[in-house]
Amino acid sequence: MQSSDLLKIIEGIPKAELHLHIEGSFEPELMFEIAKRNNIELAFDSIESIKKAYKFNNLQEFLDIYYMGAQVLIHEQDFYDLTWAYLTKVHSQNVVHVEIFFDPQTHTERGIGFGTVINGINKALIRANREYGISHRLIMSYLRHMSEEEAFDTLESSIPFKHLIDGVGLDSSEKGNPPNKFVNVFKASAEHGYKLVAHAGEEGPAEYIWEALDLLNIVRIDHGNRCLDDEALIRRLVDEKIALTLCPLSNVELKVIQNMEEHPVAKMLDKGIVATIHSDDPAYFGGYINENFYETAKALNLDTSQLMQLAINAFEASWLTREEKNRHISEVKKYFESLVLSH
Ligand code: HPA
Ligand code: ZN
Repeated sequence: MQSSDLLKIIEGIPKAELHLHIEGSFEPELMFEIAKRNNIELAFDSIESIKKAYKFNNLQEFLDIYYMGAQVLIHEQDFYDLTWAYLTKVHSQNVVHVEIFFDPQTHTERGIGFGTVINGINKALIRANREYGISHRLIMSYLRHMSEEEAFDTLESSIPFKHLIDGVGLDSSEKGNPPNKFVNVFKASAEHGYKLVAHAGEEGPAEYIWEALDLLNIVRIDHGNRCLDDEALIRRLVDEKIALTLCPLSNVELKVIQNMEEHPVAKMLDKGIVATIHSDDPAYFGGYINENFYETAKALNLDTSQLMQLAINAFEASWLTREEKNRHISEVKKYFESLVLSH
């Protein structure tokens, strides 16, 4: 397949994005604009020098810069602008449903109110639903480098905004911060009606994926690349249809894998795992969902049936109702059928 044909096909697929940190969609241009209006001096003097700094050897090096960038977000309008910019971008990429993360602690730690953060994000999500027809779910992530007690404080702060939040996640520095550290707060979160997900097996071992499933009772795994080290775990994921939200460009940029040709997504599909593709932190890793699909498909020579499976898997793994899932999946199938007819 020609590269231009491949890109066109990917662009046209109706897609769901299930692994996206809203703070990771903060483009340097917007970062500069917001820093200026908030009278905050950035550590970088130009957009070019920011972009040059986006070279990472591991997850921690990325997180250090990602948390620094988020410091310029102060007012509700800042969170709104950030979220609106992301939604406008992915609308242009034919994303029709999003389930996005935000990191409350990154902001509340600096004295920003929980309501300031979530109201800004929520208003942009509501507008995107009205103007673009994009549906959404919102997931608050606990920072795993912080204590379980601090996660409990965040859970408590979230209660007045419970009606805006669908689930909780677990992100930040994985190694040395296993899921078992958060058993109680995940249990309490479930009791409040939140759905549960967690980053596991990105840099950490397959053992962390087991823990996330068995101790935290999560319904979906963010990343999960390392499951391939463990045959019994693969069987569990397949049997229970537990989806992985993979982020190929993130994996390459954070050296979770050495190059895209080594990405395990094709192997996972072969094994029957519900693998899905997303962008994680697109402003930092060089691409949004279409670029993630494209670079992966090109490097692994994915065919249209694999692309279709990836798109369907994301709707299956989403928190939409069965009826909504069916409607989107039939659109995906119709789209791929139309490609066959036009060739
Ligand atoms: N991994 C863990 N934590 C994160 C990430 C990630 O890729 N992006 C933002 N927070
Ligand atoms: Zn992530």
